[in-house]
Amino acid sequence: MQLGAHVLRNTVFLAPMAGITDRPFRRIARRYGAGLAVSEMVSARPELRETRKSLLRIDHAGETGPVSVQIVGADPAMLADAARYNVERGAELIDINMGCPARKVCNVQAGSALLGDEGLVARILEAVVAAVEVPVTLKIRTGPSPASRNAARIARSAEDSGIRMLAIHGRTRECAFRGTAEYATIADVKSRVRLPVIANGDIAGPDDALRVLRATGADGVMIGRAAQGQPWVIGAIARFLATGERAAAPPAAEMRAVVVEHLEGLYAFYGEQTGSRIARKHIGWYSERLPGGTAFRAAAMRIDSARGQLAAIEDFYARAGADDFGAAGRFREKLAA
Ligand SMILES: Cc1cc2nc3c(=O)[nH]c(=O)nc-3n(C[C@H](O)[C@H](O)[C@H](O)COP(=O)(O)O)c2cc1C
Repeated sequence: MQLGAHVLRNTVFLAPMAGITDRPFRRIARRYGAGLAVSEMVSARPELRETRKSLLRIDHAGETGPVSVQIVGADPAMLADAARYNVERGAELIDINMGCPARKVCNVQAGSALLGDEGLVARILEAVVAAVEVPVTLKIRTGPSPASRNAARIARSAEDSGIRMLAIHGRTRECAFRGTAEYATIADVKSRVRLPVIANGDIAGPDDALRVLRATGADGVMIGRAAQGQPWVIGAIARFLATGERAAAPPAAEMRAVVVEHLEGLYAFYGEQTGSRIARKHIGWYSERLPGGTAFRAAAMRIDSARGQLAAIEDFYARAGADDFGAAGRFREKLAA
């Protein structure tokens, strides 16, 4: 797939996840084969630009391109301005968030709340596309509620506005993360528009990805929660889709190296105190499916220094000893919200 001047190496993408897909995580996901890794959402509100959180979210130093920055807000002019601001700071693609189910994102009706106001959606899309030279992409849910799945109308509006790619999470705003994702609406959208459609929601591994692509005719998939604690799943999916080959999870030594790289990346990016707090959830995800992982996870949650975390990781993976973890050779098949 090509977006503007950028030829993507595949169409298995890392989904934006606030608090998770920061620069250290995106770097690893890219290395494991993600065709695109979208940033965490950044508020369009100018008064939030100088907060530490925003400054870290727009720090793309050393990131492999194309750098895709997701903006969130509800005001067309403000979003257009945010798009320009981010392009000036290195964004090569701008993604608009209309998928977040939170009642209020950054104190305004934004994210998927916008889907209920199709006129406003169109004004936002037109304003942002007109504001920047770089390709603009959009991420939505299937609609505000099961009774009102308007993704096809939004998609046509997106196409008319010059949006270059549309990612759809197969749930409505009202569904939050309940139930299972449905793909019929995504298939319907795909049949009605020419712009590339990326299917998202509950794709846990290679088989799910193939099933969803077949069911929807989508041009690619976006992987969120399945990448938590196993960023290599993205590469495994891409490889399976391209060649039919099934990759096992990496051996223990490689997993250990990834966890250490991730944690060191977090300490360097956020500083040791915040980095080690953020690291805890990742340590939990990396270890939860491995033998002894439950006890390790509980113990690791109480460690709050970088040195302590790294020592615990070394010890945990060294105890595994063998080349792989047996059960961990399989990918996690269930997702939790
Ligand atoms: C912790 C968390 C944070 C998320 N943050 C964002 C976000 O910032 N922007 C966005 O568009 N979607 C966000 N999402 C939604 C995901 O991008 C994705 O659409 C959703 O998790 C469904 O995909 P999955 O089943 O593969 O996880 C978030 C999801 C989770 C679990």
